[in-house]
Amino acid sequence: MSAPRADARRAYRGRLLTPIAGAAGGPAVRFLDDALLVVGEGGRIADVAPFTPGAFAGPVLNLRPAVLMPGLIDAHVHFPQTRIVGSASGALLEWLERSVFPEEARFRDGGYAALVAAEFTRCLLASGTTTCVAFSSSNAAATDLLFHALLRAGLRGIAGLTLMDQNCPEALCVPRDEAMAAARDLVQRWHGAGGGLLEFAITPRFAPTCSRGLMEAAAQLAADHGLLVQTHVAESPAEGEATLREHPWARDYVDVYDRVGLLSGRAVLAHGIHLAPREWDRIAETRAAIAHCPDSNFFLGSGRMRLSEARARGVPVALGSDVGAGRSFDMRRSMSSAFDNALCLGDRLTPAELFVAATQGAADALGLGHVIGSLDPGKEADFLVVRFPEHVAGEEEALNHLIFASDAVAVQRAFVRGKAVYPF
Ligand code: GUN
Ligand code: ZN
Repeated sequence: MSAPRADARRAYRGRLLTPIAGAAGGPAVRFLDDALLVVGEGGRIADVAPFTPGAFAGPVLNLRPAVLMPGLIDAHVHFPQTRIVGSASGALLEWLERSVFPEEARFRDGGYAALVAAEFTRCLLASGTTTCVAFSSSNAAATDLLFHALLRAGLRGIAGLTLMDQNCPEALCVPRDEAMAAARDLVQRWHGAGGGLLEFAITPRFAPTCSRGLMEAAAQLAADHGLLVQTHVAESPAEGEATLREHPWARDYVDVYDRVGLLSGRAVLAHGIHLAPREWDRIAETRAAIAHCPDSNFFLGSGRMRLSEARARGVPVALGSDVGAGRSFDMRRSMSSAFDNALCLGDRLTPAELFVAATQGAADALGLGHVIGSLDPGKEADFLVVRFPEHVAGEEEALNHLIFASDAVAVQRAFVRGKAVYPF
């Protein structure tokens, strides 16, 4: 008779904070003062329950008073801008010319790209981000190195080759056919790699730097493989003017993406600050999502995104750091900036809404809401162990500290699909 197999499940005891997935009546959060999180087969959550002594047969790692919570999701971040955080003063188009394009051109050097890719993944994990939606540069080899780094780090990542074939320096400009061949190759190599942790995203930088033909070909590739599409929209008035100068056949900015076939429930549009009601309506109709990047919007002086427009139409909204225009990889900074952004518009977001926008709400916007975003049985175990000051008790204090007093709150460990990925 063979010996009984040891229970391969792992159990973590801690306080626990999680969004309630699919809560009726808007974002809601659950806090358990003493909970047991059991991770089972395939890194899935097997059980979440109030702790009762003896209820779990195997060893239990007691992490109390630390809090277990879902890993944070950054729905918009630029890998090749990791080293230029802090450079984004001045308006968008000038900053792109002055700081971004010269830096992104350096990613033609594989050694530099590999070095920064490793830094990028470390910055994400140290901030508690376990899923990123990332722009690479327009260089295919650098994008390949980014995927290697995500795989090595154990991160969950959706990333794409940045497409740009006009209105940019020669060092970054890649003609349509060459770019599409590189994108197809990257789809074959990386889409679904890491057991599904990695996805390739179609990534036209934004309308001014993309020809109509490039965007149409990109939309076709997205449709062929069911890929996520990420781009920028209506971030600054000058960008909007440049868009319509380049694409005079469109009635407005959103119409450019719409007519080339890029808008769908698999599109994530960053910013969406200067949108007309018709554009909001069309985004809602196509079920596209917005990546709200408030810290970047403050730093570049781009304007205030009106979350109420999205809310009124049921447009999904996720939060993005938008590093390097955003000043921090830490999504808690984005949550706090989203609060300030709303306040400037006379709105007051609740801490629960902010927390959900970086967890379950973001997962929903990315089509991953059934896989990650909350600590519920059946989901993949992407979670953090976070140390709070001892006196913090209950849901309200925990959320307030996490978002607004994050200096006092430290990410101690991170797990993706049940595997420890931080500390390194
Ligand atoms: N629009 C086009 N490219 C960029 C970029 O790299 N950052 C931001 N914030 N906006 C953009
Ligand atoms: Zn961006």
